[in-house]
Amino acid sequence: MYNRVCAACHAGQLPTAPERGDQAAWAPRLAQGMDTLVQHVTQGFKAMPPRGLCMECRAEDYQAIIILMSE
Ligand code: HEC
Repeated sequence: MYNRVCAACHAGQLPTAPERGDQAAWAPRLAQGMDTLVQHVTQGFKAMPPRGLCMECRAEDYQAIIILMSE
């Protein structure tokens, strides 16, 4: 799911989108708490569209992808 959807923006294309594997960029995001991050993806957050454009993703999927991206 990351590769199919989130990687369109989170693999370095958008300067404001925290990149996969960039722990320094993810640290302050993770500090908000996982529930807040999942909520931000679901509702959309600044330049990120609602659901991160993944219409079939569930909250558990977002959580798993966030962990993947932040490592
Ligand atoms: C169309 C581009 C785009 C796509 C697709 C996208 N994102 Fe994002 N995402 C962004 C941008 C831009 C930001 C940074 C927003 C900001 O802080 O200015 C962001 C931020 C985030 C954040 C941090 C939110 C916060 O509260 O700091 C998370 C978590 C996230 N994205 C997860 C995902 C996941 C999971 C997917 C795939 C299901 C995804 N994104 C798909 C553009 C995208």
